[in-house]
Amino acid sequence: LLSVDVGNPAHAVSPILPGLMFEDINHSGEGGIYAELVQNRSMMADDTAPLHWSAVGGTTLSLDTGTPLNAALDRSLKVVLPSGTGAGNRAGVANDGFWGIPVRPRTTYTARLFAKVSRRIGPLTVAIESADGATVHASAQVPHIGTAFRDRPFELTLRTGPGAPVTGDARLTVTTADPAAAGETLWLQHVSLFPPTHRNRPNGLRIDLMEKLVALKPKFLRFPGGNFLEGNTIATRFDWKTTIGPVWERPGHMDDAWGYWSTDGLGLLEYLQWAEDLHAQPVLAVYAGYSLHGAHVTGDALKPYIQDALDEIEYVTGPVTSEWGARRAADGHPRPFPLEFVEIGNEDWFDASGSYDERFAAFHDAIKAKYPQLKLIATTTVRSRTPDLIDEHYYLAPSAAQASTHKYDNRDRSSTKVFVGEWAAQEGRPTPDLNAALGDAAWLAGLIRNSDQVLMECYAPLFSHVKNNVWATNLIAYDNLDSYVSPSYWAQQMLTSRLGRTVLPATARALPGLATVATRSGDRLYLAVVNSGTEKLNVPVELRGLVKGVRSRATATVLTGASRTATNTLTAPDTLVPRTSTVTGAAPAFTSVVPPLSVTVLELRLT
Ligand code: AHR
Repeated sequence: LLSVDVGNPAHAVSPILPGLMFEDINHSGEGGIYAELVQNRSMMADDTAPLHWSAVGGTTLSLDTGTPLNAALDRSLKVVLPSGTGAGNRAGVANDGFWGIPVRPRTTYTARLFAKVSRRIGPLTVAIESADGATVHASAQVPHIGTAFRDRPFELTLRTGPGAPVTGDARLTVTTADPAAAGETLWLQHVSLFPPTHRNRPNGLRIDLMEKLVALKPKFLRFPGGNFLEGNTIATRFDWKTTIGPVWERPGHMDDAWGYWSTDGLGLLEYLQWAEDLHAQPVLAVYAGYSLHGAHVTGDALKPYIQDALDEIEYVTGPVTSEWGARRAADGHPRPFPLEFVEIGNEDWFDASGSYDERFAAFHDAIKAKYPQLKLIATTTVRSRTPDLIDEHYYLAPSAAQASTHKYDNRDRSSTKVFVGEWAAQEGRPTPDLNAALGDAAWLAGLIRNSDQVLMECYAPLFSHVKNNVWATNLIAYDNLDSYVSPSYWAQQMLTSRLGRTVLPATARALPGLATVATRSGDRLYLAVVNSGTEKLNVPVELRGLVKGVRSRATATVLTGASRTATNTLTAPDTLVPRTSTVTGAAPAFTSVVPPLSVTVLELRLT
């Protein structure tokens, strides 16, 4: 029997559920949601070779540290043009993008680049073309290139025609066929190509991925990590001050936690605007003096990092009259961003030195002194201070996730509130299968039931490029053209979009193998049932405490599949999607038929 007390809510559903967690892992930023199409646009990814760049027309390529663009981009791509250049012989370079440059018909792309030559030459052509160079899909020209880099990049618009293919297998070329260029040298830096972006933001985000996130209606975005925040070493941490300003003045850094170069084009301001575009609040994780290979900073040496965090908070929230608020305004966003939560570090239980207590106290005292209204999140237990929340991470087998639906049921209600800042049932690659989604749904039902304790939650990781799946199980995956969502995405979307404002007491434990959560808003009752078993179940439901009755007609939204390993893929993205239908027979006591291997949310109307 599933007995629900409709009249006596246990507590409010936390108003800051659900959220999203993002870090650049699995090419989720570079080559992912950050819409830049050129890989290694800044030539900074490697010190010896111009990775992802190749010769066109017999040129010789090298990295030239003697020809920097500026202090941040301290080199350029040197292209020695052959003596035969001209008269139909083009010469230059090609970039292979992130596993190809994607092309669609009738699409407008924006290219930006810095270029200079040893002798003034005529047109430089920027083209999106087939990988073999045989077909040009779109092109545009810079009429003349001079002998010095300009202050700003050349900007070109490339538009594909109606006959352009849909392909992920193109390349970007920068070439000249001017005979005056024969034997000369061309230098290139910051060669960038953007497709249309979400809300048309320059330096913006990929539309299909943003739409999938918007649909989840997240209340917050936790960023920038995760291990990406910490880096393997202090030098490769997320050093926010190097991630703002013109993108061609950002040095970038090695994302050594996950094995590729980050241009930091997706920098602090872009993260904040991303949260703004989601109508979500940022949850800002600040570097707290610990990096993954064990370096930890304490005592006076920690002071610069604390100052960095204070400056970062000022950049986010300060008025334009403050130093860092003025920088934000200069970067294009005069209005301060809302900020309620700041997380001090990430997974500091890995710090074997035990220095977190001291580090947390130092950040806590400095931040609370200047920003007493901010809520501070600790990443592991601390004794020195009382954090406002503690971030707990759970990566579980599906069966363990399902069993953990009761984890917080008997928690001491007076202890520090919880932010489950990373969690996932892990099975399936690059995205979870149905079995994992059932574990996720059972676990999330438990978090919602206990959202007087677990105020915030976000699944992780969010994204994986199918060609760079370093972390097995992720919510959403894509290649350079298409994307799809996992059954777990749908399970979460079902539980968090069909959700009342109060949690109702329900005798969930009386039903082994089932996880449930019941919530209510006014006359609407939401009953979520997760059946991880392979048998169809007839679940007797009893609604107690009704003032009147319940309408017979209800809606049922069901996610299910043929087997535990059933899943969605790039080529079969809609194998598992929730289906909503009208059902009849709801009453103060009725039987709900729950399919095997399913998540069901019943929406009932009280009379
Ligand atoms: O989500 C992947 C990684 O898992 C995160 O970077 C880290 O915080 C955790 O260990």
